[in-house]
Amino acid sequence: MNRQPITFVGGGNMGSAIIEGLVRAGWAAADITVVELSSDRRNALATMFPGIVTSESVLPCSAGVIAVKPGGAAQACHALAAAGAQRVLSIAAGISVATLQEAAGDHTAVVRAMPNTPALIGEGMAGICASDSTSAEVVQWAEEILGAVGKVVRVPESLIDAVTAISGSGPAYVFLVAEALTNSAIEQGLSPEVADLLVRQLFVGSAQLLGQSSESAQQLRANVTSPNGVTAAAIATLEATGLRSAISETVKSAVIRSREMGK
Ligand SMILES: NC(=O)c1ccc[n+]([C@@H]2O[C@H](COP(=O)([O-])OP(=O)(O)OC[C@H]3O[C@@H](n4cnc5c(N)ncnc54)[C@H](OP(=O)(O)O)[C@@H]3O)[C@@H](O)[C@H]2O)c1
Repeated sequence: MNRQPITFVGGGNMGSAIIEGLVRAGWAAADITVVELSSDRRNALATMFPGIVTSESVLPCSAGVIAVKPGGAAQACHALAAAGAQRVLSIAAGISVATLQEAAGDHTAVVRAMPNTPALIGEGMAGICASDSTSAEVVQWAEEILGAVGKVVRVPESLIDAVTAISGSGPAYVFLVAEALTNSAIEQGLSPEVADLLVRQLFVGSAQLLGQSSESAQQLRANVTSPNGVTAAAIATLEATGLRSAISETVKSAVIRSREMGK
């Protein structure tokens, strides 16, 4: 376990979520520096995480996390390398390992990740990749950082767009289904408050069941679908209206857009 001091460039939604996870996992707040241009944001971060160091610019450091918007990622990577970082983890969407490596130069190892927003509550899912020359120890370091806010899987960089299309954008698909179900519940006469409660708890309960069960999603579905029952009628309608092909097309569109944005 390598808990060397770490500098975050960008302490917005994702940056602060990861910092929170690291502090929760026992990293010393004093070993975490966060670079933010706005003094209001620096003050807010210092209040959220007592003991962390905040700065307007990148101070000398040995390891960094890039958590700014993609447009600023290469510059942040260059700044971290120039400040002495020997390893950098970037969560910027669409910014390739090659682009990061070019910005970092030859003496800084880079790891690229695609996290997702459930990281905000410590239930994230991230795919990570690095170049062949990046050592296993550096990849492990990056895994530990993202592991503080969820699960991590290693993939070749050619599959990062697929990870983006599934777990990166995926929360939006789930929320869209929740939105549609809430509207249907109201159409059936339930009050908006009750509809909201039913749907939120449906998703919480089903997600936890899926997460904790050793059975596949397919088996869990079969378990609640008695022949000729209510759920069977509902599922038959979902199948007939083309849910599977809609999801397949959804993911294909996301992969295509993710590839385009990475160019
Ligand atoms: N949110 C997601 O679901 C998600 C998922 C996967 C990947 N990501 C990636 O995570 C990264 C961060 O996303 P986010 O949602 O956390 O964005 P965010 O909330 O906008 O956070 C970025 C933070 O960085 C600050 N910043 C901008 N330029 C800076 C600089 N040069 N030096 C220091 N700080 C700077 C921003 O300040 P200002 O607001 O003042 O500019 C902001 O506070 C993005 O690259 C995104 O692609 C996000």
